[in-house]
Amino acid sequence: MKQRGEKITCLTAYDAGFSALIDKAGIDVMLVGDSLGMVIQGHDTTLPVTMNDMVYHTRCVSKARQRAFVIADLPFMSYATPVIAAKNAARLMQAGGAQMVKLEGARIEVVSFLVDQGVPVCGHLGLLPQSINQLGGYKVQGKERADAEKMIADAQALQQAGAGLLVLECVPAELAKEISVRLTIPVIGIGAGVDCDGQVLVLYDMLDIGTVKRPRFSKNFMHDAANIEEAVVAYHQAVKQSQFPTFEHSF
Ligand code: KIV
Repeated sequence: MKQRGEKITCLTAYDAGFSALIDKAGIDVMLVGDSLGMVIQGHDTTLPVTMNDMVYHTRCVSKARQRAFVIADLPFMSYATPVIAAKNAARLMQAGGAQMVKLEGARIEVVSFLVDQGVPVCGHLGLLPQSINQLGGYKVQGKERADAEKMIADAQALQQAGAGLLVLECVPAELAKEISVRLTIPVIGIGAGVDCDGQVLVLYDMLDIGTVKRPRFSKNFMHDAANIEEAVVAYHQAVKQSQFPTFEHSF
């Protein structure tokens, strides 16, 4: 899809009902994100999410999927070493039915080990919610040139290590564009401007559900929709036609 210039659509999903609906709407990729800790479990961060939580929700999503590609997050501390990561990735794939696992940061050694074992891996750079206590807040990352250059180098190292996909979260639009152009693997943005190869949103944000305030880079797709199916289809079409995100959703 990257090679032919077709934008990739991705939404988070956490249960069978939404999985079936999102799959039917034509969304390309479903991400069982550890954002479930915030939008499903009501925590302030993603840190309390466990491997058991991730396996449970990934299984719910996989059961109802027919065609969309399913990625599951490795939660906080579940990939502290390559061996721990391999054990937990195997659980997400064997018990959960995930087709790819996602992990945060430039964990090159871990990514390389997983790929060697046959595990498809999605990297995640920019704002890393599992490192929120080090970052000190949910802020845009890579604004200074030195930070931007490090992110470019990290993205290239992840690709070199065998990552098949990269998520960029809360990154200046120009930097996200530069990374998307330089990499051959697809780059999926969230708060990363209009020029990534695809887009992901947290389902509950774009449906305007829940207790967490909708971030500026998201959009309430329920506003002009008669029901949830219509909202998800509208998001899918808006991304495919490069109508979402726009400048107002970018940094
Ligand atoms: O957990 C999640 O939902 C994510 C997205 C924000 C990309 O990682």
